[in-house]
Amino acid sequence: MQKPIYFVLIAVSLFAVVIAAVPQTLSLYSGSHDFVSGTNVDCAKCHSDVHTEMLTSNSMVTEAHQRAALNINYTTYLAVGGVDYDSTVGDITTNMDGDSSGSNDTWEWNSSTQMWVRDSDSKSYRMVLDADESGTVENEELCRLCHQTTPITESGHAATWRFCDDDRCHGNSNYNYADPALFANDVTSKVTVGKTLSSADVHDMFYLNGSTQATSRIIGEIPAFGYTPGGTVDSSVSKSYMACVGCHSESNVTLQVTDMHYLHEDPNAAKQRYSYINGTITIG
Ligand code: HEC
Ligand code: HEC
Ligand code: HEC
Repeated sequence: MQKPIYFVLIAVSLFAVVIAAVPQTLSLYSGSHDFVSGTNVDCAKCHSDVHTEMLTSNSMVTEAHQRAALNINYTTYLAVGGVDYDSTVGDITTNMDGDSSGSNDTWEWNSSTQMWVRDSDSKSYRMVLDADESGTVENEELCRLCHQTTPITESGHAATWRFCDDDRCHGNSNYNYADPALFANDVTSKVTVGKTLSSADVHDMFYLNGSTQATSRIIGEIPAFGYTPGGTVDSSVSKSYMACVGCHSESNVTLQVTDMHYLHEDPNAAKQRYSYINGTITIG
């Protein structure tokens, strides 16, 4: 028994000398032979700036997104392109024809395998963002709610963007595809923000003008699961989400407002809300 332990001690002390001699090389390559699967990639390893920002941001908003990300029904629904969830029947209706069968896919819950199963070809699938199965979606796992290319195992390695007013997130002027039935609490108002901001809201001009302006994100260049990731202008994602970011983050959104203000001294002025009075907003 004595001998092997003695040998190990010598080996360890030799190794310590080597470490002291080449600290930089080792820190660069440490862990280089620990292979990680796609679900275990640590986004914070390289994007620590974004991770730090997220950790220090408003906990109510972060926690709301964490709860959404922990809900496997919801994340699977996002992944397969859901437009409707029926909690009684237990199926997800989509607007995607993932298996090229000529009709849009429907997925049914199989309680014995705990998987979602596509009706047409029995493909099983489940999107779980809690990669380490700790029961909470930690912050680096949360990145995937908005940046996961879906399903990552099938469509490669690229990251994507899910903008605030994505059809299946907070909705936009065209679509509200997040079904409130996916959540335990009533989230109806939270998944229809884009729609609300599109109609007779004092800030509708802010949002709608953004909806007519294009970002540099070309839809075809975003691996966006074959569906429109929010409002669009021609082939680009629109700037409508910048209205959300403008109010709900500390990012700067530059507005150039050309507006004719309501004249309070004019008794015959048209009875309109401020937002309908002719004007344009340029968002940059
Ligand atoms: C090994 C380092 C590394 C890891 C790990 C990593 N990224 Fe990146 N990521 C990069 C680099 C480098 C770029 C910039 C590429 C470029 O500018 O063309 C980038 C770009 C991005 C972009 C696009 C930025 C832009 O403005 O175009 C997003 C979004 C992104 N990463 C998200 C993620 C997410 C989510 C994860 C975790 C699943 C992740 N990354 C993991 C290195 C990494
Ligand atoms: C609630 C959704 C959401 C979450 C959560 C989220 N992002 Fe993003 N992220 C976005 C959106 C939307 C953009 C695009 C903003 C733009 O281009 O104007 C973006 C942009 C980025 C970019 C490119 C812009 C930049 O600042 O360089 C990187 C990199 C990135 N995210 C990484 C991450 C990482 C890493 C995490 C987790 C720590 C994360 N994101 C979490 C929505 C999210
Ligand atoms: C003009 C500023 C402004 C804009 C633009 C804006 N918000 Fe809000 N948002 C607010 C304010 C203020 C509240 C709180 C309203 C209240 O409590 O009645 C709020 C509330 C919310 C809530 C509900 C929070 C809760 O717990 O009930 C969500 C979700 C939300 N906003 C998301 C968005 C999204 C997504 C967009 C873009 C489509 C957006 N907001 C655009 C200012 C804004």
